[in-house]
Amino acid sequence: METITILAIESSCDETAAAVVRDGREILSNVIHSQIDLHTLYGGVVPEIASRQHIEKINQVIDKALEEAGVTLDDIDAIAVTYGPGLVGALLVGVSAAKAISFAKGIPLVGVHHIEGHICANYIENKSLEPPFHCLVVSGGHTHLVHVKAYGEYEILGRTRDDAAGEAFDKVARAIGLGYPGGPKIDRISDEGNPDAIVFPRAKIEGSVYDFSFSGLKSSVLNYLNSCEMKGEEIVVADVAASFQKAVIDVLVNHSMEAVRSACGTKFAIAGGVASNRHLQKAMAEACEKERIAFYHPSPVYCTDNAAMIGVAGYYEYIKGVRHGYDLNAVPGLKLGERI
Ligand code: KG4
Ligand code: ZN
Repeated sequence: METITILAIESSCDETAAAVVRDGREILSNVIHSQIDLHTLYGGVVPEIASRQHIEKINQVIDKALEEAGVTLDDIDAIAVTYGPGLVGALLVGVSAAKAISFAKGIPLVGVHHIEGHICANYIENKSLEPPFHCLVVSGGHTHLVHVKAYGEYEILGRTRDDAAGEAFDKVARAIGLGYPGGPKIDRISDEGNPDAIVFPRAKIEGSVYDFSFSGLKSSVLNYLNSCEMKGEEIVVADVAASFQKAVIDVLVNHSMEAVRSACGTKFAIAGGVASNRHLQKAMAEACEKERIAFYHPSPVYCTDNAAMIGVAGYYEYIKGVRHGYDLNAVPGLKLGERI
């Protein structure tokens, strides 16, 4: 059978990334240039700085991805690129580079949804995983509980009503003085803390069992910190981090298991930056074992933003015949499952 080699490009937020993916599941290269150090100065991603940095790095990152894969553009069958959701100026850099290569080499262009990429990251190391399955996507910008019905076919069962899970980690980390990006720091310091030290609320949303809300939890952490300060009580950062993290994890696990159970599902996966959280992985693995369902999660490098996952998602679109024209534009608010 003919092999399909895809060059994938990702630039939706603060990572400039390119990868070469063969037949949807074999990663020949996965190059990521992270801008985290630049944005740390400002405590979060500055869109204008992100776009400029993408422009500076995109060609180098693409060249490196081709070189590491041991291929040239002549070996590439299609270009897959993230065209939404994300920061418009950042997305445009990847989309423009992809269009330029596609035009110059006469190779097909396939636009990919960023969240679809995160979900597809699970296919990389779990070669036997195929839809249907349920997937919890938890990243800096998104919290979606999704039923993956078939390749490229999604039903969103629940989503956050306010902050994304990763956003809550980042905001709470800032409040307890851990800095940006907060997720990995809370993950680490929680090892030394007591997750039952402080009982933070687990939000329930009336009439919508699978939706999430994290802004009340964040406020509750802020109130706790304020009240300690006012009373002159010592704040044990590791305990606050561990207790906050447990509150997030409890809700993510409960909603996810409820969704899989009620659909009589047999497979469950997590994806997105927060999916690299070791405590979340452990809690999900235990819950899935109890429910007797198979549990999947990508390695940390495929949880956070990368282009390999875009190449995987792009492959399944490509073999379905999806092709985009040179009018492909960045769509910052692109919905999962929406085709533009
Ligand atoms: O998927 P991602 O790289 O970018 C988006 O598409 O948003 O996710 C980044 C988010 C950040 O909010 C970061 O704090 C969070 O993922 N994150 C984590 C961990 N590693 C990254 N959150 C909790 N625990 C972690 N180990
Ligand atoms: Zn992402």
